[in-house]
Parts: sequence; structure tokens; C-alpha cells
Amino acid sequence: ITLDNVKFTKEELENFDRVYIVACGTAYHAGLVGKTVIEKMAKIPVEVDVASEFRYKEPLITEKTLIIVVSQSGETADTLACLRKVKENNIDTLAIVNVVGSSIAREAKDVLYIKAGPEIAVATTKAYLAQLALLGLIALNMAYTNGKMSKEEANKVLDDLKELPKKIENLIGNPLYKKIADTLYTHNDIFFIGRNVDYALSMEGSLKLKEISYIHSEAYAAGELKHGPIALIDPQTLVVAIASEPKLYDKIGSNMVEVKSRGATVLVITQ
Ligand code: F6R
Repeated sequence: ITLDNVKFTKEELENFDRVYIVACGTAYHAGLVGKTVIEKMAKIPVEVDVASEFRYKEPLITEKTLIIVVSQSGETADTLACLRKVKENNIDTLAIVNVVGSSIAREAKDVLYIKAGPEIAVATTKAYLAQLALLGLIALNMAYTNGKMSKEEANKVLDDLKELPKKIENLIGNPLYKKIADTLYTHNDIFFIGRNVDYALSMEGSLKLKEISYIHSEAYAAGELKHGPIALIDPQTLVVAIASEPKLYDKIGSNMVEVKSRGATVLVITQ
């Protein structure tokens, strides 16, 4: 992989003042992470919407908006309908798709394939990771093309990205996961909490848990918990706190204290 696997020209980027990412389910959650990285690295404002909402709205988009639709299958009806809706207004569209030749891949102006191979299980996992990697590559490419990052800095991030498969393999092989699952599977209510990008990751964690284990789960922006849902936290609740950003450790730490004082078990996922 090189930075130029995804290529925006300077002129193209100058033509966009905003990106709008539209998708469903897991692909929407990938879009939320995409927003974080594009805004952080390329400093281009990004909106993200679920396709079933966007479809029936009057979104504020202009010919200076780049619409990115994300879909593993490339056939999701709401996402396809959004693509068709914006195309009618001559808006530029870029599809991030896995299935080659799918309707969304064929109908978008441009397409980038995540090349994740067939997604066989109901719960999409590898496509999600590949969507994140490709959105990261888009953010890096935008950032160095529009001068917000030097090519050296972008390549340094790319080198870190290339380390991910090895790191994921090491994590998957870790016997600790089974041990944790064996002690925690009896909880009937599981909350995922996080701030910023960790909130986006919490939403995906909660969705995957529901789909695979049929356990009730909700994701909350950690700071929102005290505005109502904290009433549901009791000694039967498990709270999974995602804390990847050191600058937010104190904030998420105080949210963990809040739920622990109501008797919840807390599992922290951190660096
Ligand atoms: C979750 C899952 C769904 C899909 C959603 C969109 O594991 O598989 O949430 O992500 O239905 O599907 P695609 O990406 O094919 O448009």
C-alpha cells in the first residue's frame, strides 16, 4: 500500500468544501471514524448520516460537497437510494465498497474497493476494519494533497497502519479474551462508553455484541451517561469503557467511577 493508492488531485480537493458520509449499520460506524480522521488530518469538515435518515431529509449539500457512500455489499437499499438521490443533483459521489460490480459500485461516479474478500458471517468484522483502513488512507491522501500534512508525516502514519495486521493477529491469539468472556457473558445489560472516536468504536462494539450474543447493549458518549441513562446502571450491569486517547483518560476515568459507585462491573479497553 502506498499513499497514492487513493489519489485526490489538488484541484479536486479545492473543489470540495465539505464531505458527507452516508451509510448504514457498521458502515455508518466506520464513517464516524472516517469523520474523525479526515477532520483531524485534512481539516475538511465532514458530516455523517445514516442512509435511512439522509434519504428522507433535505440535506444541505452543494456541488462543493463530496458524498462518500460506504457499503460492504454495495446493495443496501437505503444507501443506494441516497446515492441515486444525490446523483440527480450532479453531486460528486465516491463509493467505498467491497463487492466488485455491485449496484453502488457501478452507479457511483468513483469507486474504491476495500478488497476484504467475501464477508460470510452476518456480523461484518473484516469489512469494518478494511473500511477504517481505507478511510484512513483517504484522510492521509487528502491531508498531504491539501498541504495539511507533509508527505513524510503521512508516510509515517501509513507505516503505523501497516503494522496493524500483525498487532491484530497477536491480539486475537491472546487467551485473555476467552477468560474475560467466560466471566462476563452472564450480564443481561452491557453498556459501551467512550469519548470522541472511542464513542464511534463503542457504537460498533455494542452493535456486534447484540448481533452475536443477543445480549442487550447500548452505546453512550461517556459524558452523556449522567444525563439520564445512569438510572439503568446497577450491580447487574457491565460497562465496557473504551479509552484510547491519553488526553481523555481523566474524563473517562471519572465516568467509570460514576458507574462503579452504582455497583456496575467495569471492563476497560485501553492502549
Ligand atoms: C453489522 C452489519 C450491518 C451492515 C449494514 C450495512 O454487522 O453487517 O449493520 O453493516 O446492514 O450493510 P452494507 O455495508 O452491506 O451496506
